[in-house]
Amino acid sequence: MIIPRELLLPQQTIAGDGSIKRLIGEAMVFGVRGVVVHGRSLVAGGGLEAIMAVAPQGAEVVSYCHEGREPTLQDVDRLREFLVESGCDWVAAVGGGSVVDLAKAAAGLRDAPLPTGDYQRGAKIAASVVPLIAAPTTAGTGSEATVVSVLTDPERELKQSIRHASFMPRLVVLDAELLHSCPRRTIAASGLDAFVQALESYTSRHANGFTRALSELALVAITENLLAVYSGDFTNAEALLEGSYLAGLALSHARLGLVHGLAHPLGSRWHAAHGLTCAVCLPPVLDFNRPVIGAALEDLRLRLGIDVERQVADWMDEMKLESPFAGEAIRDREAIIRETLTSGSTAANPRAVTAEDVEVLLDNIFC
Ligand SMILES: [Fe+2]
Repeated sequence: MIIPRELLLPQQTIAGDGSIKRLIGEAMVFGVRGVVVHGRSLVAGGGLEAIMAVAPQGAEVVSYCHEGREPTLQDVDRLREFLVESGCDWVAAVGGGSVVDLAKAAAGLRDAPLPTGDYQRGAKIAASVVPLIAAPTTAGTGSEATVVSVLTDPERELKQSIRHASFMPRLVVLDAELLHSCPRRTIAASGLDAFVQALESYTSRHANGFTRALSELALVAITENLLAVYSGDFTNAEALLEGSYLAGLALSHARLGLVHGLAHPLGSRWHAAHGLTCAVCLPPVLDFNRPVIGAALEDLRLRLGIDVERQVADWMDEMKLESPFAGEAIRDREAIIRETLTSGSTAANPRAVTAEDVEVLLDNIFC
């Protein structure tokens, strides 16, 4: 099989500078009542006002501001209530990965009977009928192109995804002008996440010809453009945004790998930027996986000119990033190992992983 056995893509994707102004007009096919979920920076930069100002006559659209942290179960429960009260016909997420994941889970579970935590713990999710529109303001998670929402449970210090085929956005708006107001440190961390996602979906044991083609396109787009966009040159920002979108499409079908298996338990405890956590976990995981993926890495180097390990090390230097784990004392070691081993990302890793392997990797990450 070249294509995945179940192919899930956004129904429609529109792109181009200024395309965000088409959002509400396009969404009207789903109904007149909409909720736009966004972060604080969209208000500060005037973006929200600009989107609302061009709403067609008859549109009844309200906004909902998310405070900016990675979404918790409580954040989703709160937004689900808001969506029910609003009687909305559709939900739009205009923001970074946190905003998109929050809106995706809340729209997907709007009419569900149980608290969000029950679904994270494994309760069966029914198909959602609430159309989701996603317009990313960062080039990172690619959540606009996936059926996945990563949620944090602060009580259990657990970061774990929920997913359902019906969570796929019906409309995606890729407007690279939205990246202009993205802080540099966010461009850096998000871009590293997108790059690692492109790589892990490429080497995943579930990858196929279709997903590998998407991953390769993403790897090239991100490698060629991340540093320029970080440095304030937005000439090719659209290519970077396309790169994270393509990586999202790839991972939605191929899953990821051990870097993400480690990044979730570490991120939920140390609250480090997700992309930075991924970048720091990548070198030891590459060493671990090399017996299985060495030829694939060499192929990327020869054919695409991408030396994965060197590229990430260069970015860490050039974007002045440091490991959030260096010199830190590791805590909850047993729980971190358990969560890493039970992660769906780890299950997709090209090399089988044992508790002893995770022990060694953690020692490397925390040295
Ligand atoms: Fe990620």
